[in-house]
Amino acid sequence: MEIVTTLAELHNALASSRAPGQRIAFVPTMGNLHRGHLRLVEVAKQRAPKVVVSIFVNPLQFGPNEDFANYPRTLEQDSTQLQDAGVAVLFTPDEKLMYPNGATHTSFIDVPDLANILEGAHRAGHFRGVATVVAKLFNMVQPHHAVFGEKDFQQLLVIRAMVRDLAFPLEIIGVPTERDAAGLALSSRNGYLTAQERQLAPLLYQSLCEVRDAVRRGEDNFVQLEQQAVAHLTAGGFKPQYVAIRDAQSLLPVKNPTTTPLVILAAAYLGKTRLLDNLRV
Ligand code: PAJ
Repeated sequence: MEIVTTLAELHNALASSRAPGQRIAFVPTMGNLHRGHLRLVEVAKQRAPKVVVSIFVNPLQFGPNEDFANYPRTLEQDSTQLQDAGVAVLFTPDEKLMYPNGATHTSFIDVPDLANILEGAHRAGHFRGVATVVAKLFNMVQPHHAVFGEKDFQQLLVIRAMVRDLAFPLEIIGVPTERDAAGLALSSRNGYLTAQERQLAPLLYQSLCEVRDAVRRGEDNFVQLEQQAVAHLTAGGFKPQYVAIRDAQSLLPVKNPTTTPLVILAAAYLGKTRLLDNLRV
């Protein structure tokens, strides 16, 4: 595996893969890799012999009171895992390369509507930061396929919308969420949880499952189901920000539950850690 930090090195490492018929698959990450990230690498490998992974903790997608400074940075372990997984190129750009004039002085991409609800409403500017860095990484890596987790369901839809609207010449692939035995979605932020919080954390997924089961049974008072889930989480030690049953394509509230594919999305604090999960019905 080649580890590259500059554009020249990146282009060099990929030059031989640009010949007609050759494919490159790309997995952007912020590092501190776990089984969920490695699953994306596996899917990428099924699409293309040459897999590029990037690790960049993107300041533009963190709010002023969020965990940018504390976000776990574990490059050595990450690169061992990627090497073992058969990744060809690890791209670790620095902030100067990504934001030559600083993160507050960069051109950016705003995806309308989708980016301003749910996560976007609670984390102002978050999806602008995500879309901008992902667009820039796409331009640098120029992959044929790019792989994202359904764990960040809204992020996946924002990226799909950006790729469609701006005609990025690549395919976006979504991969189901990897969970631990108790159902907790794997996340780099789970490392912030105390031992006691870790015991409580699976309730988030359990609550989503309860809502899903109720919807499947035909219960159609979605506002009530959402409120019950919020109450259940609160009783279990969480501070929920939202539990929302939405149209799985637009993420808007649902007009006709029987014909619309649905997704249940939730974000909740457990102590100081903000957990995010979702489940399709
Ligand atoms: P990060 O949180 O590191 O996640 C990188 C990719 O891994 C994302 O596509 C995410 O959805 C996926 N992922 C995380 N946990 C997962 C799990 N349990 N199962 C399956 N996939 C999982 O998401 C980001 O970084 C950033 O926003 C990024 C897209 C890199 C832009 O900075």
